[in-house]
Amino acid sequence: MKIILTQQIPSIATELLKKAGHSVEVLSKNGPLSHSELEKKVVGADAIVSALTDKIDGEIMDSIGKQLKIIANYAVGFDNIDVKEAKKRNIIVTNTPGVLTESVAEHSVALMFAVAKRIVESDTFVRAGDYKHWMPTGFIGQQLWDKTIGIVGLGRIGSMLAEICYRGLRMRVLYNDMKHDERLEMELGAEYHLLPTLLERADVVSINVPLVPSTRHLISAKELRLMKKTAILINTSRGPVIDEKSLVSALKEGEIAGAGLDVYENEPELTPGLAKLANVVLTPHTASATLEARTAMATIVATNVIEALKGNTPPNSVDVQK
Ligand code: GLV
Ligand code: GLV
Repeated sequence: MKIILTQQIPSIATELLKKAGHSVEVLSKNGPLSHSELEKKVVGADAIVSALTDKIDGEIMDSIGKQLKIIANYAVGFDNIDVKEAKKRNIIVTNTPGVLTESVAEHSVALMFAVAKRIVESDTFVRAGDYKHWMPTGFIGQQLWDKTIGIVGLGRIGSMLAEICYRGLRMRVLYNDMKHDERLEMELGAEYHLLPTLLERADVVSINVPLVPSTRHLISAKELRLMKKTAILINTSRGPVIDEKSLVSALKEGEIAGAGLDVYENEPELTPGLAKLANVVLTPHTASATLEARTAMATIVATNVIEALKGNTPPNSVDVQK
């Protein structure tokens, strides 16, 4: 059968798909296609392997055709796919959970340290040749040991982050989620709090919720004002969870101390002023970009496609999220 990958992903995916006897076409090796280009080029596929930058809506599904059985997203998040429209057409949607948990949690920690210890600012300073003498009060940052982390969204990634912070840095763990996690409350002493209380008490706030209607602009001007002036905000989930304009103002006004962002509200565009701030560290949506995670994601994507095309329920099918 015919499988279209909207973008090049690690070659293990194509190898597995070809081994299973399918024909494979890769549409782009250099960045995402526009919606209209995509509409033209996906026609006739039995399976689509999409990237998080592809907006797969009902229109695209109709252009592909009635033979389409599965949309396999090469990501754990699947807010780029209209799952409701897929369901109406009996198309399976899958994601790649589990295998990028560690990498994304590590990236949250990396951003947390980079902001707290002012790593990027200091690196720029040294490269510019400005390091002339040791400075008794230069580049003063924050220690993370024994501080409090507030995790918004205690799913797989949020839980892994809680473990790293508790076991590695003896941080107190506060969390907010739709449900309580008794295991982490017991093992890590994690405390459930409503969002306002979590924001008021945490030294580091990490966003780990999926993007769904109820999490869009979950962190806006009002929430940022609740945070400590010394607090650091980390986001490795989806940009629109934070109102980026309000974040830029909060960072400028010193309402919070800093931010570490891997995702942006209008990715890849940045809110004007964001890139000028010294107290932010910005990465290009690379939290899952480790050899380990991306290879495993490619393997999972191929498995989901192969199973679906055999008529089986693939291991990672997803449903509409609220
Ligand atoms: C990356 O953002 C993913 O959802 O896998
Ligand atoms: C995503 O993998 C999550 O559940 O955090």
